[in-house]
Amino acid sequence: MRKLLFAFGTRPEAIKMAPLIREFRKYPDVFEMLVCVTGQHRQMLDPVLALFEIVPDIDLDIIRPDQDLSDITSSVLKGMQGVLQKVIPDLVLVQGDTTTSMAAALAAFYRRIPVAHVEAGLRTHHMLSPWPEEMNRSIIGRIATWHFAPTARAKQNLMDENVPEDRICVTGNTVIDALQWVIARLKSSGEMIRQMDALLLRKGFDIRRLDIHRRLILVTGHRRESFGEGFNNICHAISDLSLAHPDVDFVYPVHLNPHVRKPVHEILGDRTANGNVFLLEPLDYLPFIYLMSNACLVLTDSGGIQEEAPALGKPVLVMRDTTERPEALEARTARLVGTDRENIGKVVSTLLTDKNSYRAMSKAINPYGDGHASERIVAFIRTLT
Ligand code: UD1
Ligand code: UDP
Repeated sequence: MRKLLFAFGTRPEAIKMAPLIREFRKYPDVFEMLVCVTGQHRQMLDPVLALFEIVPDIDLDIIRPDQDLSDITSSVLKGMQGVLQKVIPDLVLVQGDTTTSMAAALAAFYRRIPVAHVEAGLRTHHMLSPWPEEMNRSIIGRIATWHFAPTARAKQNLMDENVPEDRICVTGNTVIDALQWVIARLKSSGEMIRQMDALLLRKGFDIRRLDIHRRLILVTGHRRESFGEGFNNICHAISDLSLAHPDVDFVYPVHLNPHVRKPVHEILGDRTANGNVFLLEPLDYLPFIYLMSNACLVLTDSGGIQEEAPALGKPVLVMRDTTERPEALEARTARLVGTDRENIGKVVSTLLTDKNSYRAMSKAINPYGDGHASERIVAFIRTLT
């Protein structure tokens, strides 16, 4: 396994692949590494590459405005065909559950090149939730030769699907490696914090507001299965909450997907005038984690944020009906609240007003990793060389 090809294309894949790439770089005599980005994301991908000092060797640049799933799949498949023909890697590494990951794995399979799956084995067992990610991840699970499962439960899910145990390695999630790296950067100097404050101010949120007994709720959302009614409900819930809790700031870096931006700006645009709803452009990873570390609560449907928030001791309310990350639910630092307007309002209000409920959810836990996942993955792949 000397020649490794890392294939990824979206913001969360980049965040979770970056620490792994940095770890592999420590062994230049053992591995030849090539990074191929599909460019499924662009504005949301490039700052992550810059932060972690990753310069792609190949960029398929497939992004088109509002492209659909078949477009992404076919562009990645076709693009990867050419890359694999040219590069002929010994192993292709993909991460998670995006369409980039699924199509890149499929392209490798068509050329009979082994695939290693980072963040393998997460399952909701509901093919339409998250959609299309549950199917994407399952397909990659069928294709992959090597499975890096973040938790024991993920390993069990794979074994329930008859993946041989010696093909699975429990590693923790590389997102915790990335998170710890970023936290260390944030703590490195007062100057860094001043830079973050200034950056957030430029983006539209003055974090000094929190000095005068205000609280911050961080919001994100982008799941395809919630487009339409679900998203409208989420936005109305935030609108209701902003009126009911004028002492709380709701800061929402809005995903670039037009199906997200339209309802968010239509429903919440007016609320920004009320003074406690802040709709920002997507934030780079460093300021985003800085913001999260200053939040009292996180309201999200994101996969990665469900893993980061518990590590930071932030209660996380998951605006979905299912999750493939049940570990934080069991530890009671995360709760599924669905996309029902009243339910979201009720649960958030309780946490804002009932100190005991809040305290019960705000313990720091790390079910998703200890910050050494990348080392374990590299050590495992070294045994294959
Ligand atoms: C994708 C992944 C999802 C992942 C999410 C992380 C699929 C099918 N979806 O969803 O699993 O959780 O990324 O954020 O793989 N756009 C831009 N610039 C960007 C990114 C997106 O303009 O940097 C716009 C484009 O109009 C694009 C649209 O958003 O067509 C949707 O992007 P896409 O990658 O298809 O889906 P996401 O909702 O980002
Ligand atoms: N994130 C970020 N800026 C933002 C929102 C999220 O850097 O404005 C990070 C977040 O910390 C997490 C990742 O992006 O690591 C999650 O990405 P997203 O929610 O888009 O995708 P998912 O994890 O749901 O696939």
